[in-house]
Amino acid sequence: LDFIPQELVSLKDYEEFTKSRVDDNAWAYISGFAADEITAKTNKKAFENISLLGRSLEDVKGGNTKLNLFGQEFDNPIILAPVAFQKLAHDLGEIATAQASKAMGSCMVVSGFSSSTLEEISNYADNLWFQLYMQYDMKDNLSLIKKAEDLNYKALVITIDAPISGLRNSEQRAGFCLPNGISAINIKNIDPIQITNNFENIFDIAPILPTWKDIEFIKNNTNLPVILKGITSVPYAKKAIELGIDGIIVSNHGGRTMDTLPSSIELLPKITK
Ligand code: LAC
Repeated sequence: LDFIPQELVSLKDYEEFTKSRVDDNAWAYISGFAADEITAKTNKKAFENISLLGRSLEDVKGGNTKLNLFGQEFDNPIILAPVAFQKLAHDLGEIATAQASKAMGSCMVVSGFSSSTLEEISNYADNLWFQLYMQYDMKDNLSLIKKAEDLNYKALVITIDAPISGLRNSEQRAGFCLPNGISAINIKNIDPIQITNNFENIFDIAPILPTWKDIEFIKNNTNLPVILKGITSVPYAKKAIELGIDGIIVSNHGGRTMDTLPSSIELLPKITK
């Protein structure tokens, strides 16, 4: 902690600090939201509108923030979301995040689009989950899942809300491209798929969409707990439970994939119920 500059206190401080340290190309990706950024703003506003009720006269002795999930114990209920291409922000990329996650007793979800290998990352933390973007060929999915199992990743998160990469106007304006040396190093034959402005290719690339059938197939072919990320409706949550899915992440991808979705936090109580 001695190495953290004094002016870095809140998340907002980190955001500004990052902006001053990465190039415009990386910043466009890291900070970009889908289209008019309405989902992103809705997320933020909904969070700010939550108010807490004080109950300060309780005896809180012995209280803690521990969380137990799937037989794993975490010191706090903060799970690091899968974030792609972390080498855009620092040469150590996902390795630095894994070290931080371990130091904080948290759990890190390693993105399928990580810029470090699953092997390297697994040397730096124990509480790791693996996040999968569905690949065209089911064999590729299964071999990635097998690798994650062998490396002792403890859960499989399948992102269902990004069959194609979000159309982020800030990335378009900046002409974002991955710099040399940064790639989705764990994935064969993949470039995040881009839709064109007139959407003409959207149906050609639709096959990469995971369907319920694919989810069921994967669930039957792994021993890891399977978690679906990107659920934003009650019927989908119910269906996931019917299929025996182990967990769901109520998420609109931080507003990075589809614009004009409801905020995740306002959906949460409805889906929890
Ligand atoms: C993103 C994808 C890769 O949000 O998850 O950039």
